[in-house]
Amino acid sequence: MRLEGKVAVITGGGNGLGRATACRFAREGAKVVVADIVDDLGQETVQLVTEEGGAASFVHCDAVSTSDNHAMAAHALDTYGAIDVLVTAAGVSHAGYKSGDQEASVKWFAKRVDYFENPANELLDLDLDDFRQVMAINLDGTLLAAQACVPAMIESGSGGAIVTIASIAAKHPDAGPIPYVCSKSAVWMLTKKLARVLGRSGIRVNAIGPGFIDTHMTKMIDLIPEERLTQFYANIPMGRKGVPDEIANTALFLASDEASYFTGEILHPDGGFFTE
Ligand SMILES: NC(=O)c1ccc[n+]([C@@H]2O[C@H](COP(=O)([O-])OP(=O)(O)OC[C@H]3O[C@@H](n4cnc5c(N)ncnc54)[C@H](O)[C@@H]3O)[C@@H](O)[C@H]2O)c1
Repeated sequence: MRLEGKVAVITGGGNGLGRATACRFAREGAKVVVADIVDDLGQETVQLVTEEGGAASFVHCDAVSTSDNHAMAAHALDTYGAIDVLVTAAGVSHAGYKSGDQEASVKWFAKRVDYFENPANELLDLDLDDFRQVMAINLDGTLLAAQACVPAMIESGSGGAIVTIASIAAKHPDAGPIPYVCSKSAVWMLTKKLARVLGRSGIRVNAIGPGFIDTHMTKMIDLIPEERLTQFYANIPMGRKGVPDEIANTALFLASDEASYFTGEILHPDGGFFTE
């Protein structure tokens, strides 16, 4: 019960890493606020938590909306009376990404296969609005959620923990499309900056930089032509994708008192990707 008595707000809690984190945190005693842009997915997470005997509540939140983020924080305070932990798992791999819409993701990915042969086209095809959309959800969304939740952490006098979800793409340009790698690199810098400005308030801010984890976002990787797929897995010493629980466990560590002297750090559960 490492989060007993704590209240955790999780953006993007409707699916993948956010959902696994919500379930894990609830099993450790946290009351969980599940925020997501897709109401059905968020409600499903709440159901999963409550079926296991945990406490969870859903609030609709578009990560890019300032007012939604403030409403999310207000919901946490009204429902559970505090905010001790924030995990920012809302994110997209590309513009127009819809978690759960596999057909759309496959269509998007099919176009990207051309970039293996013609890498310059990735730059030449890039639409500025698409770039901005990914930056907005991944980067602005992280910033806005922190801005909305931090006042309650400061007012409580007992500090708190923020866990951002970056990626190996924060440090490696081959780990995603152009807008994605730029957004994750910026999330990592934002994490370090927040750690510096919030340290005196007793708020620890750390990032997780996952490798390739088996969620909706990475399902299409297995559609890469065979030769390249073999090369893809050869770059991961453990030879497999991770599973969402492996990220939830990392988030649990960073959110808990066990990580009491960690701030401004990034942990890479990546199967050894960064041993290169
Ligand atoms: N899966 C991976 O391999 C991997 C690796 C590194 C980092 N990440 C990051 O982890 C985070 C979660 O991704 P995932 O793999 O769990 O994908 P996912 O699609 O399973 O979950 C993403 C969640 O974010 C929500 N979301 C999307 N746009 C939103 C918005 N505007 N406002 C609020 N919620 C929104 C979705 O509805 C969904 O519930 C993302 O930031 C992603 O970049 C994933």
